[in-house]
Amino acid sequence: MTHTNYDFGLVGLGVMGRNFILNVADNNFKAFGYDLDKEKVDALKEEGGNLERVNATGDIEAFISALAKPRKIMLLVPAGKIVDNVIESLLPHLDTDDIIIDGGNSFFTDTDRREAYLQEKGIHFFGSGVSGGAKGARKGPSIMPGGNKEAYAHVQPIFEAVAAKFNGEPCVAYLGPKSAGNYVKMVHNGIEYGMMQLTSEIYDLLRKSCKLTNEELHTIFDTWNKGRLQSFLVEITAEIFAQKDDQSSGYLVDKILDKAKQKGTGKWTSQNAMDLGIPIPSIDIAVSMREISALKEERVLADSLYNRPTPEKTDKDAFIKMAEEALYFAFITTYAQGLHQLADASKEYKYDLDLSVIAKIWRAGCIIRAGLLEDISAAYVADKNISNLLLAPSFVPKVQKAVPAARELVAYAAKNGIPAPGLTNSLTYFDAYTSSNLPLNLIQAQRDHFGSHTYERTDMEGIFHTEWDS
Ligand code: 6PG
Repeated sequence: MTHTNYDFGLVGLGVMGRNFILNVADNNFKAFGYDLDKEKVDALKEEGGNLERVNATGDIEAFISALAKPRKIMLLVPAGKIVDNVIESLLPHLDTDDIIIDGGNSFFTDTDRREAYLQEKGIHFFGSGVSGGAKGARKGPSIMPGGNKEAYAHVQPIFEAVAAKFNGEPCVAYLGPKSAGNYVKMVHNGIEYGMMQLTSEIYDLLRKSCKLTNEELHTIFDTWNKGRLQSFLVEITAEIFAQKDDQSSGYLVDKILDKAKQKGTGKWTSQNAMDLGIPIPSIDIAVSMREISALKEERVLADSLYNRPTPEKTDKDAFIKMAEEALYFAFITTYAQGLHQLADASKEYKYDLDLSVIAKIWRAGCIIRAGLLEDISAAYVADKNISNLLLAPSFVPKVQKAVPAARELVAYAAKNGIPAPGLTNSLTYFDAYTSSNLPLNLIQAQRDHFGSHTYERTDMEGIFHTEWDS
C-alpha cells in the first residue's frame, strides 16, 4: 500500500529523470517516479534503496494518488509530442492547483500553448530549463523555471535544495511568466554552442600552428581552467585530451569523427534572434559549423580540389598566450550576444527578466558555467538595464586589453587557411557594434536607387527619397 505523502513526482525515468529524482530524495523530499518501462521503474526502486524515500510505478493512478497536494509533477521526457501526450495522460487524474513542470528543452511557444491550455483547467504549468547533463541532475543542476509566480512557492523549496550551489546560493530562481524559463534555457544552449565552437577552433589553431600533442593540449586547457577562462567547457576539454582510446593505442579524441550532431536548441536561438532582429553571429556560425561538419563526404572531395597554405611556424609560447586572450575575448562577446537577445526577448515577450539573476544562476551547475559569470552578474547588479555587456564599464578595459590578440589570431587563421569563424564572427561583431560609422549608408542609397525604399539623413529629420541620376 502506497502512502499519499510523496512531495514530488517525476515522469520519465531515463538518465536525466533517474538522476534528478535521486537528487530530490537525497535532499530529504519523498519522491515518486513514473515510467511505463518496468525495467526503469525497478532500477530506480533498487537504486533508491528505501521505498519510503523514493518509489516508482508504471501505474498512473498509483502514481497520482501517492502524491501530496498540490501535486508537483515534473516531466523529464524528450521535447515535442511526448510532452503533450504525457500531459493528456495525467490530466484526468489531476486536481485544481496541481503543478506540472516540464524539465525538458521544449520550444518556448509550445510552453506558452501548454500553459494557456492547462490554466483553463486550473493546472499550473512550468517550463523549466535544467542544465548540467546527467551529473548535474544527480549532484546539482542549474534550474531555470518560468510560469505562475504564486504556484512557484510550492516548487521553490525542492528546487532550491536540489540545485547546484555557488557560494551557498542555489542556482535556481523564478525567472518570469509563461515560457521565460524555456526561453532562457534556449539562449543558454545557444551560448553553449558558441563556446563549444570557439574552444574547437582554438584546439584546431593550436594543433595546426604549433603541432601540439594531446598531452600538451591537456596541460594548456588545464592551466587555462585555473585562470580567467575557468569554466566547465574548458575543464572537460582538458579532460578530453587526456582520454586514451580503449580500442587502439592512441587518444580517443583523434578517433572521433568530425561530424557534430544537434538537437535544435542552438538553431532555435538563432532563428528567434533573427525574428527579434538581434545580431548573434557567434551563435549563428556555431550552428552553421555543425551543418558544415555534417557534409563530411563533400568536404573530403572539396579538400582534394583546392590547395591550402601550410600553416606558418609560430612561437609556441606567444601563440598559446594569444590563444588564451582571444578565447577570453570571444567568450565575453558570445555571452554579450546571448544576454542581449535575452534583454530584447524580455521586452518582446513581457518576461521581465533580471539578467543579473540569470547570470547568477548560471555560475554553477550548467554547461556554460564559468568564472566570467561572476563578473557578468556583478556588471548587471551594478546596472541591470545595460543593453549590452560590451557597454558595461567593468568590461570595457577587459575587452580592450584582449581584442588585439583576437585580431592577431583571426588574421593568422585567415592567412593560413584554418577555419575560425566563431572567433572571426566574435571579432567582427565587436568591431561592428563598436563602430559609430558603418557603410550601411550605401545600402540605404542602393535600396532607394533601385526600389524607392527611402532613407534618413544625418543632417536633418525626416524620410527622404531621391530620383537618382542614372
Ligand atoms: C544542458 C545541455 C543539454 C543539451 C545538450 C545537447 O544544458 O545540459 O544544453 O540540455 O541537450 O547539450 O545539445 P545538442 O544535442 O543540441 O548539442
